Amino acid sequence: MNIAVVGTGYVGLVSGACFAEMGLNVTCVDIDSEKIEKLNRGVIPIYEPGLKSIVTKNHEAKRLHFTTDLPSVINQVTVLFIAVGTPSNEEGDADLTAIYKVAESIATNMEDYLLIVTKSTVPVGTTAKIKKLIAEKLSERNLNHLKFDVASNPEFLKEGAAVNDFMSPDRVVVGVENGRAKEIMSKLYRPFLLNNFRVIFMDILSSEMTKYASNAMLATRISFMNDIANLCELIGADVSMVRRGVGTDSRIGSSFLYPGAGYGGSCFPKDIKALIRTAENVGYEMRVLKAVEKVNDNQKELLFRKLNHYFDNEISNLTVAVWGLSFKPGTNDMRDAPSINLIHKLLDNQVKVRVYDPAAMDEAKQYFGDKVEYATDIYDAANNAHAVMLVTEWKEFRLPNWNVLSKIMQKQVVIDGRNIYNAEDLESNGFTYTCIGKK
Ligand code: UDX
Repeated sequence: MNIAVVGTGYVGLVSGACFAEMGLNVTCVDIDSEKIEKLNRGVIPIYEPGLKSIVTKNHEAKRLHFTTDLPSVINQVTVLFIAVGTPSNEEGDADLTAIYKVAESIATNMEDYLLIVTKSTVPVGTTAKIKKLIAEKLSERNLNHLKFDVASNPEFLKEGAAVNDFMSPDRVVVGVENGRAKEIMSKLYRPFLLNNFRVIFMDILSSEMTKYASNAMLATRISFMNDIANLCELIGADVSMVRRGVGTDSRIGSSFLYPGAGYGGSCFPKDIKALIRTAENVGYEMRVLKAVEKVNDNQKELLFRKLNHYFDNEISNLTVAVWGLSFKPGTNDMRDAPSINLIHKLLDNQVKVRVYDPAAMDEAKQYFGDKVEYATDIYDAANNAHAVMLVTEWKEFRLPNWNVLSKIMQKQVVIDGRNIYNAEDLESNGFTYTCIGKK
């Protein structure tokens, strides 16, 4: 079967490459000609473990193609996935300009049956709007007889584990309106779920809603635990023990209960905003999610407050090392990363900032330019610093040589935003150590 994936961001590129890996003939389309030209040369625009090898392999095997020419692809495929970006606009609504442009192009160029699948995270009701737009345009072209279907197939992949998530999903959620679309989608996903077919078919609105509800639930767990962590700190409990105690209840489960410097990334912040707005548009208030957002905004300021607290609000002219810039380990993505808020606050308070991240150094230059110093590793970042602030829990940060660090730093202070260090280790090397949710 020939399929097209429009949009070569995280979702589109990973989906396209993984479908090609299963033997489908896939064309990935993007309006960014520089990106397409790079992909055709084997240059992958994002850092995602395992992605480069399957892109290269399938491109060489001529099962994976890259083009900017959407009209020429539309009539060569049976299924077209829309995976373009849906950023938040200023009011917090998802900006659907790119989605509707693709729908417009489909409607203008379509000559044969097509199943159009929304894979981008789109507000509930968007797939129905796409259907209406295409039907109207076909009618203008006197092509009312031309059959097409729409479906919703949200993506649940995590950055840093995207290929694996796509290849072995917990489940696949698909919203369809008829048997034909259901049959095609079953065929597409059967290779991924050979031994246990976990495609959950439902109506399109419920499928769109499932994506938002999943992300909202995960973000809620994080904010809830951050709230508990802050309370633990005030009353002298240890949130790491509380997390273990809570997470071993089989009704609750242990994932997404890690307190920290706040959640970031391209999905949680924007999807929570969009769901709050969706509810407002129908006269409903998402009270829990508003609190989730508020707790997270507050959490992103916590490390800064801890630094101020330790230095009695005398932080100007200090040198601070920030370890980790990406919104989580395993990616160079810095969208809505807690490091951004922290570093801007430090800079606003005349703190000299030295940063290091294993993957996001180039990305960081777009956010901070020459306002911070870019170090070559964690030791270089900590050189002459008064404090180390750990924001992203990269594996390579887990076992630093504290003895060496204690000698090269001006003051031995570590503020751990992800609770990865052992207080005794640090204290025995003369450090003052503070983390989240413990005394
Ligand atoms: C998320 C969803 O997991 C995925 O299903 C969806 O498709 C897109 O959004 P992603 O943005 O890649 O994926 O990141 P994820 O691994 O979920 O982490 C999100 C943020 O939450 C990170 O900033 C992370 O540091 C934070 N987090 C996660 C916590 O603070 N505590 C936790 O226990 C888990």
